[in-house]
Order: sequence, then structure tokens, then C-alpha cells
Amino acid sequence: MCILHFQWQAGMLTLSIFAFISLIYVPEVKAQGDASGQRLTLFLDVTRPLHITTPRYLSITISGGQLRRNLIGYDFSSKKLQKLAAALSPADIRIGGTYADFLNFDPTSDDAKCVIRTEPGKSMQDSDSADAEVEDARQKKRESFSNENLEFSFSGQRWDNISRFCDKVGWDILWDLNLLDRHNGSWDPTVAKQFLDYSSSRGMKIPMFELGNEPNLYERKFGVILEADQLVKDYSTLKDLLSQMPQYAASGLYAPGVNNLDTFSSSRKYLAQFLQTSGCKMISEIALHHYYFKKEDASLADFVDVEVMDTLRTQLEFAYNISWSSCRLRKPVRFTETSTASGGGVPDVSNAFIAGFLWLDKLGLSATFGITRVFRQTFLKSSYALVSQSLKPNPDYYLSVLFKRLVEGPVFRVYDEGLTPTVRVYAHCVSKSHYNYPDGAIVVYYLNLGTKASVLSLGKFKKTEVHLFILSPGDEDGMLSRKVKLNDELLEMNGSDLPSLEPKPHSGDVPLAPKTFGFIVIPEADVQLCKQYHRHDDGKIVSC
Ligand SMILES: *[C@@H]1O[C@H](CO)[C@@H](O)[C@H](O)[C@H]1NC(C)=O
Ligand SMILES: *[C@@H]1O[C@H](CO)[C@@H](O)[C@H](O)[C@H]1NC(C)=O
Ligand SMILES: *[C@@H]1O[C@H](CO)[C@@H](O)[C@H](O)[C@H]1NC(C)=O
Ligand SMILES: *[C@@H]1O[C@H](CO)[C@@H](O)[C@H](O)[C@H]1NC(C)=O
Repeated sequence: MCILHFQWQAGMLTLSIFAFISLIYVPEVKAQGDASGQRLTLFLDVTRPLHITTPRYLSITISGGQLRRNLIGYDFSSKKLQKLAAALSPADIRIGGTYADFLNFDPTSDDAKCVIRTEPGKSMQDSDSADAEVEDARQKKRESFSNENLEFSFSGQRWDNISRFCDKVGWDILWDLNLLDRHNGSWDPTVAKQFLDYSSSRGMKIPMFELGNEPNLYERKFGVILEADQLVKDYSTLKDLLSQMPQYAASGLYAPGVNNLDTFSSSRKYLAQFLQTSGCKMISEIALHHYYFKKEDASLADFVDVEVMDTLRTQLEFAYNISWSSCRLRKPVRFTETSTASGGGVPDVSNAFIAGFLWLDKLGLSATFGITRVFRQTFLKSSYALVSQSLKPNPDYYLSVLFKRLVEGPVFRVYDEGLTPTVRVYAHCVSKSHYNYPDGAIVVYYLNLGTKASVLSLGKFKKTEVHLFILSPGDEDGMLSRKVKLNDELLEMNGSDLPSLEPKPHSGDVPLAPKTFGFIVIPEADVQLCKQYHRHDDGKIVSC
């Protein structure tokens, strides 16, 4: 009797301890299997890097459509624009897209000649290489039975101003040349040569080139058939041209710029054919475009859906698998154009707080695959831009600046056994460029897509103080807020100055509030590989 009684009491004790823990940590499992609300433990392999990202990993674009509209919104003399741009440097800027294929460089044209009227009732919505623009292009084609109406003149003075601005803010240009300048089935380099002669005579830096934009879609969009083997020949022509110009002989070539390998077998086929027809040798890196969905098809839920996030994984796998099978090596890959939704982004969503989940996950996931650059479409204007036309930074702008300031170098494998599917975690060495963290420091960044708070225990790093940079919606619009808070403080520009993005010191487990994302710096992590990277910073670490 006595023994039984004791056991019963012990049972009660266990039960009540369990209940106590439950109150704090144990998940309320939702019907659809949302297992958030847990205490999670971080497991990292810091003994070898998966890959190494450079400070230019996060890069940006200006679309051809923006050039065509005379870069409305770009007042290069604006101090605010300069500061917004410089906070993202060092970065590469891809200037290209659908309209790059309709750009006529005219060194002498005056500005008036460049002006393109927008049709009445048509918004100044930015166009990317995707569907809004395709529809626009098709419409024009139907009207004219030629591409004449899409063509526009781009003046030398305008080019001078862009180039000077990019130099000033620390952006390197990836210039997308007009591939629809064709003659008898081949690319005609005459205008390109003029452009390069002009640029070279002014000492303009153009370290990277592309030729055209999503050539696999030319037939559908413009009625031009351009097979992958012909594209290789065209790149060969470009290479010959560049080799004659000391200023550009060493510039990189990036191709073929096909879109969404995960959804389009035609893109996969085009990439494989391009690489197999000596494309591998012709280019520095494979260039791809990626959008998660079309703006017309997107729902709010898609922006926080792990399955949508994982479609990017499929694209990345395809890219390297095709590279292996076509080139017999793992050719480096970059996204020269990418954002959430194609067609300019989803109005009031792609520029809201909620867009940060897909953006941060794209940056994290791509880094674990060794993607060399992620060019965010676009820097300015349109729904998916980092900065609005009135130079108001969208939440993704601040996220990008924090990423730039914190993430660089070796990428580590995070074991997700200890995590729920709704919490995604990535880890790198920290960047020392802005906050000057000690050698060996690391940064862990997370997204909590769940509806419940979770708690992250930092495993072997749990005893040291950490710095939190937690982002949450800036006002009562919540997920659709156009503003963002850092550590519960609203981020706002002070005139042309960025707010200082200060960390919040913290000890112990890190609370991961529902529907937030953020960075956790572990200054005293003392990770050997990061020490090596921080001390030499010379890329001597061998990535796997
Ligand atoms: C280029 O910049 C100069 C000086 O800021 C300005 O006067 C000129 O209008 C600009 N030209 C174009 C085409 O943007
Ligand atoms: C056009 O291309 C064809 C096939 O490549 C070639 O035989 C022909 O000589 C070319 N004509 C001109 C005028 O370049
Ligand atoms: C890529 O190749 C790996 C190894 O062969 C394979 O397991 C994976 O399914 C492939 N992925 C895709 C998307 O083709
Ligand atoms: C805004 O900038 C001005 C001028 O640099 C400065 O005096 C002021 O303290 C700043 N305000 C805030 C809130 O940081």
C-alpha cells in the first residue's frame, strides 16, 4: 500500500512538472500539423563550410523597362538615393531584362528622343521579364506586327549618369546587351561595339555581361526562334569582340538566363543544350531567373508556405544536376534576376513585411547550394522593389541591409532534426564589415512561419551572450505592413539617413515570435573556420 501510494505521488509530481513545462514549451499541435511553439535546439556543423559567399552575394537589378522609361524615380543627385544605394554595397547591379533586347544605344541622342509615352490608363507598374511585360510586348506586337514600338533609344548622357552613380555607390555593373540585334540569323555586334567603344573611351567599368533575356521564350514572346546552339555562337561573337578591348577582355559572361527550371522543362532543355554545345567553356557562370509564382496566381498564404519555399530547392537541384551532366563539373550558378512574384510583384504584398519570408529563405537556401549571386529584382519602384518610387524603403530593404552587414563567408550546415518544418534556420560566419565582431563570430538567421512562438536553444553556444536583430511588422497592418520594426523599434529614415540598426544583447534561449524572422549573432562563438576566414579573408578555405 505504502509503495503504491509513493508511486502515485511520484507520478503526480512527474505529471505536474510535465504540465509546467508544457505551459511554456510544448506545442499546441494544430489540425493542419503546425507543430510550432516548441523548444528547438540548434545543431550546426561548423567543422567544414558547405560553400563560401562573398560580400557581393546579395545584389540588385535595374530593369530594362526602367531604362526605357528614362529611369523615372532615379534622381542620381539625390543624397537619399545615394545613401540608400550605398548601404547595399558592395553589390553588383544587373541592368537588363526584356527591354534590354529593344535598347538602341545612341551616343548622341538627346533626352527628348528617348521619352516613351505610357498609354493612358496604364500604370507605371514596373515590368520585369515576366508576364506583365510579355503581355505588354504581345499587345504591342499585335498592334504593329513588328517590334518597332518596343524599341527605344538610350543616350550616352544617360549611360554616363548611371555609370557614374554606380561607381559612386560601389555597385559593379552587369550589362545585358541587346540580343535581338540580329542579322541573317546571327547576333549583330555592330551597336554593341559602338556602346563598348563609347564606354571604353570614358573608362567605364563593366565587369560583367549578359546577352539577351530568357531566350527560350523568344519564340512565344516575339516570334523569334533562337536555338541554344545559335546562342552559343552569339556568345562566341561577343567573346571575340570583348577580347579586342583591353578594358573588357576580362569581363565575365553569364548565360543563358532561362527562367524557372523547376516549372519549365523547356528551360531545362535549353540550359542543357546551351551547356552541351560548348556553352560550359563560353561562360563564367550559369545565369538563371527565378520567381516563386506569377502575381496573378499568388495568394497571401503562398508567401509563408514552406512548400513554396522548397520549390526553389528543386530549381537549385536541377541547375547543378544539369551542370554536372552537361559540363562534367559543377559550374557556378547565379540568379541574375529573381523576386517573389513575376510581373512586377503582387501590389501591396511583395512590398510588405510578409515578402521578407521568401526573400530571407531564398538568400539562405541559395547560399547552402553555393549560388554565387542573388540579384533582387528590383532596387527601385514596382511592387517587388526594395525601395518605393518615393524613396521609401520597403521592409525588404532593411532586411537586405542587415543581411549585407551580417552575413558573409563560410556557410554552415544546420541540422533540422531539432526543428519543426515551420521554423527554418541558416548559419554563416558573421561579416565583420559593419559591426566589427570578433574573429570567429557566427550569425544564425531564422524564419518562424508558425502561428506560435518557439524558443531556440543555441546548443553548444547557449552560454554566451548573443546579439539579436529581430524583425517584426511595423504597424497594425501586420503581415501587410509597409513598415518594419527591428527589436520592437520602428525603422524610419531620418531625412536621407538610414536609422542605425542596433542589436539587442541577449542571454539564454532565444524566443522566436510567430511570423517573425531575424538574425542572431554569436560574437564569442570562436569558430575556427570563421577565425580563419576573418583573419585572411582570402578565400583560402576550400569549400565542398
Ligand atoms: C545627367 O546628369 C547631369 C548632371 O547631374 C544632368 O544635368 C543631366 O540632365 C543628366 N542627364 C540625363 C540624361 O539624365
Ligand atoms: C546568311 O546565313 C547563311 C547560313 O548561315 C549563309 O549561307 C549566308 O551566306 C548568309 N548570308 C549573308 C548575306 O551573310
Ligand atoms: C538531382 O540529382 C540527384 C542525384 O542524382 C537526385 O537525387 C535528385 O533527385 C536530382 N534532382 C532533380 C530536381 O533532378
Ligand atoms: C536626425 O538627423 C539629425 C541631423 O543629422 C540629427 O540631429 C537628429 O538627432 C536625428 N534624429 C534622430 C531621431 O536620429
